[in-house]
Amino acid sequence: MKRLTTILVLSLAVILCACAGNKGGQESVQQSNSKNMNKKTLVAYFSATGTTKAAAEKLAEVVGGNLHEIQPEQPYTDADLDWHNQQSRSSLEMKDKISRPAIKNKVENMEQYDTVYIGFPIWWYIAPTIVNTFVEQYNLEGKTVIPFFTSGGSGKGETLNYLKPSAPKANWKEPINLTDKSEEEIEKLVK
Ligand SMILES: Cc1cc2nc3c(=O)[nH]c(=O)nc-3n(C[C@H](O)[C@H](O)[C@H](O)COP(=O)(O)O)c2cc1C
Repeated sequence: MKRLTTILVLSLAVILCACAGNKGGQESVQQSNSKNMNKKTLVAYFSATGTTKAAAEKLAEVVGGNLHEIQPEQPYTDADLDWHNQQSRSSLEMKDKISRPAIKNKVENMEQYDTVYIGFPIWWYIAPTIVNTFVEQYNLEGKTVIPFFTSGGSGKGETLNYLKPSAPKANWKEPINLTDKSEEEIEKLVK
């Protein structure tokens, strides 16, 4: 009888331990799930003629991010974009590195994102200064910020050197060139 009682007590102890262990496991899975669910990605972009927009749409698909178009308060006309004309709006803005063209819309609740991709066309070897306007509108401290661009052929140039001072406490990554990239190529690039 004594032996039977011992076996029963031991079995009960084993069952209780197993249940407790399992519960702990479930909790940690739930915690890590909710942690991952809280990690959100934003794909913001400025595009004057649609090329960067198309790249941003593919990127958002690949990374599962929310898409946000940076819309200038005053849209850029063809004349504004004429880089042969030294007096065109884009030429003047890009010569004046502290110019900050106004933006008409805002990202809702930027706090929810911990990774922010920011896309733009290369203008005169760097990001258009409207991208500085965008970056300076938010507190990006501690967020991972990944610039991406399209261009007529040049690389990232001095892009990062001109963007970083607009959000010095963000965790900036090297800009990614998405010119003419397919979704499959983008997937490899962002991995
Ligand atoms: C004002 C201006 C300056 C540009 N400067 C460059 C440049 O320095 N290097 C380059 O490769 N392409 C340059 N381009 C070409 C654009 O980067 C390219 O066409 C880009 O893909 C356009 O993107 P979007 O359609 O999203 O505006 C320039 C275009 C404009 C309008």
